[in-house]
Amino acid sequence: MDNSVDFSPLSLESLQPLISTKWLGRPAFLFKQLKSTNSHALGLAEKGTPHGTVVVADCQTAGKGRLGREWHSPANMNIYFSVVLTQPPAFSFFSWIPLATGIAIAETIEEIANLNVSLKWPNDLLLDTKKLGGILCESTTKGPNGRAIIVGIGININCREIHFPQELKAIATSLAVQAGQTFDRHALLGTVFSKLESYYERIWDSDLSTLHSSYISRCSTLGRHVQVRLAGNTHLEGVASNIGHEGELLVIPSNSSVASMSHKPSTISIRAGDVIHLR
Ligand code: BTN
Repeated sequence: MDNSVDFSPLSLESLQPLISTKWLGRPAFLFKQLKSTNSHALGLAEKGTPHGTVVVADCQTAGKGRLGREWHSPANMNIYFSVVLTQPPAFSFFSWIPLATGIAIAETIEEIANLNVSLKWPNDLLLDTKKLGGILCESTTKGPNGRAIIVGIGININCREIHFPQELKAIATSLAVQAGQTFDRHALLGTVFSKLESYYERIWDSDLSTLHSSYISRCSTLGRHVQVRLAGNTHLEGVASNIGHEGELLVIPSNSSVASMSHKPSTISIRAGDVIHLR
């Protein structure tokens, strides 16, 4: 294993020439440290920043994960950034945003690190069964152009096991841990920006067939027996059978899950929820 770790900071000077997009990352802001790139991006969206603005930070002191969790964000090792979408797609296609984001990241990592990333619906990036990264979508309606969506992305790149707190050691991983080498974060960002732009455009254009096939080929949730935790402290168990036209997870409920319902649905469509892979 290569133990030489490149902990040099990101620089806008190195990143700018690698941005070859039309609108995503124009502008791109880079901070040495922020509380949270999502929180900063929400503020920018409320002031009317352009569609596609990106906020990157080399370290987050209050990185936000899903379900109110903290996102571990040590300095100079990983990737933490947020994309501001001030022209969101049709409401019915909102669920595709995290899925398209996952595809773009998985493809980037396959190309740059030659590792197969699997996607746990809707927001998790896994290497084998360990978490490599996550996606947190937030939205605001306080901006001058109505609703804006903030897509926050955290990917563990060059951190090693010693950099994870004890509670994450067994469940989290990084590219460096898996590949035994470090990676150029500027190159990863440049490539992922291009892929995000191209996949987001497909959602706007309602061109969902490539997204659908690309997502299901990487989705480790499909075919699994899952528990879905829904709003209001309820949950559902069943087999995840497919991804629907609007990016929703289709679950065939187990009998016990629908025992109390008078009309037993053959498939339940889930738009948001926390999924646990049971077996
Ligand atoms: C998850 O819990 O899986 C989602 C994690 C999302 C973390 C990223 S890091 C960049 C952006 N800013 C934040 O505060 N959170 C997201």
